[in-house]
Amino acid sequence: MFHPLRISEVEQLTDDSVAVTFQVPPELRETFRHTPGQHLALRRLVQGEEIRRTYSICAPAAAADGDPVLRVGIRLVDGGEFSTYALKELTVGDTVEVMPPMGRFLLAPRPGYFAAVVGGSGITPVLSMAATLLAREPEARFCLMRSDRTAASTMFLDEVADLKDRFPDRFQLVTVLSREEQQSGLPSGRLDKERLTALLPALLPVADVDGWFLCGPFGLVQGAERALRGLGVDRSRIHQEIFHVDDGTAPSPAPVAAPAHAALTATLDGRSGKWPVQEGESLLETVLRSRSDAPYACKGGVCGTCRAFLVSGEVRMDRNFALEPEETDAGYVLACQSHPATPEVELDFDR
Ligand code: FES
Repeated sequence: MFHPLRISEVEQLTDDSVAVTFQVPPELRETFRHTPGQHLALRRLVQGEEIRRTYSICAPAAAADGDPVLRVGIRLVDGGEFSTYALKELTVGDTVEVMPPMGRFLLAPRPGYFAAVVGGSGITPVLSMAATLLAREPEARFCLMRSDRTAASTMFLDEVADLKDRFPDRFQLVTVLSREEQQSGLPSGRLDKERLTALLPALLPVADVDGWFLCGPFGLVQGAERALRGLGVDRSRIHQEIFHVDDGTAPSPAPVAAPAHAALTATLDGRSGKWPVQEGESLLETVLRSRSDAPYACKGGVCGTCRAFLVSGEVRMDRNFALEPEETDAGYVLACQSHPATPEVELDFDR
């Protein structure tokens, strides 16, 4: 599942962020081909303990016959073990274990009018979407509204400016800085539901947009979604990915009353097992005690790597920022957030 990849480039983007590019050997070209919006899970062992983090791919997707470029954006998170390591230690020539691209926050290039509202490092997957779309689809249009603290802390400033130069008629950019006055007359301050409700209809014909992509901290994404719903945008046109759930704005999960002596049956890579669920643990933790190959990355309900099909029984999820309503309706759950609600539960990670 993980592949050791060599780092070919590390670029400093801002004081607290870097872009890291991995070299993809020819035999893994197809494995690492990505759809714009996907992320990579990276793994590191520290004193026998495994740390995994997911980072979105910022590079445009390669054409079918082209070499994939694997470049991710990494921003330093306060006390973040992996991001500190990435910013302070990673250099060209180092090897990092990388999982193939994953995620369902996607924009496969197609004709149409698309728009994004992003905050901070939420620009990373959207940069890949906009760059791929505009280069491949001569009729497609993209409107990017980005919110950052200051110009100096803005990631991928040059890459976004480059899109504006290359596609002046089809790429619209609005930058909102929350902690800095702007000379251009553009708005400053935080982007919340009220401001977006007023700004969006002034910027673009909201009803004509085929797909909205919201990415960033929980508060911004939730505010943007509410603004769009209030403006009459159908839920099926809104796609979202949350970064930094634990910024104090996300609701805390309710405590779970689990049945005593629950048992989990799980199928993974064609092999099944049955194990008792210990008090308080998630179903992912139950599986991981016996199967270290169980898929996960964030353990926070954000990345969707641990998605599994609920074959029988019932579970209660603490939180879900990764699965679309259609996926939960179809019976998928996040194992890292699931606790048994019935004495017997069966999950299938292969479906
Ligand atoms: S491991 Fe990321 S959502 Fe479960």
